Amino acid sequence: MAGRDGLHWADYNDRQAGRSVRELCAELIGLAGPGAGRRAVDLGCGAGIETRALLDAGWRVHAIDSAPGTAERVLATAGADERLRIEERDLALPDELPPADLVYSGYSLQYLPPESFAPAWRRIRSSLRPGGWLAVNLLGDRDEWAGTPGETFLDEPAVRRLAEGLEVVKLVEEDADGPAWSGTKHWHVFHLIARRGA
Ligand SMILES: C[S@@+](CC[C@H](N)C(=O)[O-])C[C@H]1O[C@@H](n2cnc3c(N)ncnc32)[C@H](O)[C@@H]1O
Repeated sequence: MAGRDGLHWADYNDRQAGRSVRELCAELIGLAGPGAGRRAVDLGCGAGIETRALLDAGWRVHAIDSAPGTAERVLATAGADERLRIEERDLALPDELPPADLVYSGYSLQYLPPESFAPAWRRIRSSLRPGGWLAVNLLGDRDEWAGTPGETFLDEPAVRRLAEGLEVVKLVEEDADGPAWSGTKHWHVFHLIARRGA
C-alpha cells in the first residue's frame, strides 16, 4: 500500500460504524437483483458495511482489504456468516481475484499506484463472469487530492477506456465540493456501473 498506511485505514474504517450503505452499492444491489447464492467481491471493503448489505441481499461475499484488523472489523459489522470470506490482502499484489458475478469497489482503487492500477483493473475484468456486474467509484484528475504520489486519478477518456467491452449502465461524473472524513474538499469522482455481456 502506498501513501496512506494501514493504520490510517484502520482508524478510518473504525469510524465508519453507523453510516448508511453507499449509494452506488445500494443502486447496484437493486440492479443486480437478489444474489441467490451468487458470488460478490467487495474490494477495499473497509468496515464491511457494503459487504453486509450484499449478504443481506442474498450474495455470497468475498471481502478484501489490506488494512490491519480487517477480519475482526468486517465480522463486527457483518456478523459471522458461512457465506462470508474475508481476506486481508494488498490489491497491488499480482494474485488473481476469485470469479465473481458482482464486483463492487467503493472509493478504494485510487489508492493503488498507477503502475499497479492497470494490472489490478485487468484482474478485476478477468474475474467478472458472463453477465457479471461491476460498480466502482474512480477518482478524477480534477479531484483536490489529484497528484498525490502513489495514487491514481483518471480523466474521462481513461474511465471510458476502462469500461470498453462492457455495457455501461451508469457513468456519472461528480465535480463539486463536498464533505470528506478530513473536512470539505473538492470531489471529482466517476461513479460507474457496468455489466459484462452474458
Ligand atoms: C476510503 S476507504 C473505503 C472503504 C469502504 N469501501 C468505504 O466505502 O467506506 C479505502 C479502503 O481501501 C483500502 N485499501 C487502500 N489501499 C489498498 C490496497 N492496496 N489493497 C487493498 N485495500 C486497500 C483501505 O484499507 C481502505 O479500507
